[in-house]
Amino acid sequence: MTVVDPKIEELRQKRAESHAGGGPERNKKQQEGGRMTAYERLDVLLDPGSFRELDAFVTHRISDFGMDKKRPPGDSVVTGWGPINGRLVYVYSQDFTVIGGSLSEAHAQKICKIMDMAMKVGAPVIGLNDSGGARIQEGVLSLAGYAEIFLHNTMASGVIPQISLIMGPCAGGAVYSPALTDFVVMVNGTSYMYITGPDVVKAVTHEDVTHDELGGAMVHASRSGVCHMVADTDQQALLLVRELMSYLPQNNMEDPPYIATQDDPLRADAELDTIVPENPNKPYDVKEVIKHIVDDGIFLEIHENYAMNVVVGFARLGGHSVGVVANQPQVLAGVLDIGASNKAARFVRFCDAFNVPLITLVDVPGYLPGTAQEYGGIISAGAKLLYAYCEATVPKLTVTLRKSYGGAYCVMSSKHLRGDLNLAWPSAEIAVMGSDGAVGIIFRREIESASDPVAKKAELTNQYRYKFASPYAAAERGYIDDVIEPHETRARLINGLEVFLNKRDSNPARKHGNIPL
Ligand code: HXC
Repeated sequence: MTVVDPKIEELRQKRAESHAGGGPERNKKQQEGGRMTAYERLDVLLDPGSFRELDAFVTHRISDFGMDKKRPPGDSVVTGWGPINGRLVYVYSQDFTVIGGSLSEAHAQKICKIMDMAMKVGAPVIGLNDSGGARIQEGVLSLAGYAEIFLHNTMASGVIPQISLIMGPCAGGAVYSPALTDFVVMVNGTSYMYITGPDVVKAVTHEDVTHDELGGAMVHASRSGVCHMVADTDQQALLLVRELMSYLPQNNMEDPPYIATQDDPLRADAELDTIVPENPNKPYDVKEVIKHIVDDGIFLEIHENYAMNVVVGFARLGGHSVGVVANQPQVLAGVLDIGASNKAARFVRFCDAFNVPLITLVDVPGYLPGTAQEYGGIISAGAKLLYAYCEATVPKLTVTLRKSYGGAYCVMSSKHLRGDLNLAWPSAEIAVMGSDGAVGIIFRREIESASDPVAKKAELTNQYRYKFASPYAAAERGYIDDVIEPHETRARLINGLEVFLNKRDSNPARKHGNIPL
């Protein structure tokens, strides 16, 4: 008869307990509330049956406030590693069923440990957040734990991709770890993020507001911009992250994965020839243009509900992962404003940090005028986007589809900012401003003194258009490398991308630049 070492038996028992989270009742409550348990989530996120857990026996070290009787193995977070489509990621999954997923010193140390490992081997970190925040019984130990996580997030920024899923409460200082990461995905209806909850808001500002109104997924996806992607269920959020990962490299020293496609790189798309209306004031959906160009029409949009006048997201061209930035003429005529500048700048910087080439599609009437924009800091926000494009050393390919006016011409990955390949459709207009406005300024006196001012203005506008309402003035100077037919766009971009994938470019040595934040 085999004698089982009682110590080993005890450890086995503890491990089984840890997998049960807070026990059947709490797990049931979690599931009834529409949320998966910490382990269920990992099963969906990672390739089936592949999760390798670490630190399942770690416990907190507090004895006050009755905590000596509440010492679950693994504490309130599950950590470890596993593959997504065969590629290694490190994960932590906060377990709300164990002491409300609250962050103890031990909980924080578990997270920092996997982040250290991820940095050593160069693998992404994905955090599944579902927590009541700082463990109240631990006081400063818990706060110290948060601060150490923030430091780890900051040190890992631009070295390994970091993705946060918010799948329950995320309150107080706890919000800063997700906010420091590259992408935040929230679940509609069951997750919320805020600095102070509805009760504190009521006490301080007398506002009545629900959890969802204050910090729900749609609030952060459409108003604050904190959230990059929204899902309707835990399952959907986790699958979205698997998809996102397919565009990203493991770390800043590697290229994103190449995924072969059946979509012909030379495919000429006749629909592109008619998709953009000739009238520069007529709207259209630039996402349709993107889908006609990229592999298999697949485009993973980021920040879909925020600053919708610019569109950003990931796609593939000839199997290569690319980041797409496009003005959206369907929303505010595609104008650049504070939100759009911040959104595009952040995306450009992510792509540059992680070797994802940039494709920019330009149709922009300029920057949005007005006191709201000026007072809100459009100058700094616009400068931020400019800075992001200037410093980016990844391949930068630009297609001007139609309007490209004023400062927005300079900003949108122009040749002058180290654009590698700048193409234009014949419908492109590159000028300081639209014809009407320009003629009204430079020919004001002639128009006023004409016998028929309306006819005079029309005549002068036509002359101005002839000069500037085409890409050829820019092409004559070499600011546009070639004028192409719209149906050639896919083939020309793939060819250009493959040429510039090996480009070498660098910035001056310095501690860091001073981007206008
Ligand atoms: C210790 C906590 C806890 C916490 C929840 N629990 N939050 N234990 N520290 N922060 C425990 C509860 O006591 C309860 O234990 C179990 O978790 C489930 O919580 P419930 O309240 O029953 O759940 P629910 O009704 O769903 O409410 C969830 C909640 C609420 C809204 C998150 O628990 C709550 O308000 N928690 C406190 C939130 C908070 O103020 N955190 C500090 C934020 S400040 P039992 O055993 O009774 O089931 C912060 C500072 C960070 O985080 C600073 C970093 C710089």
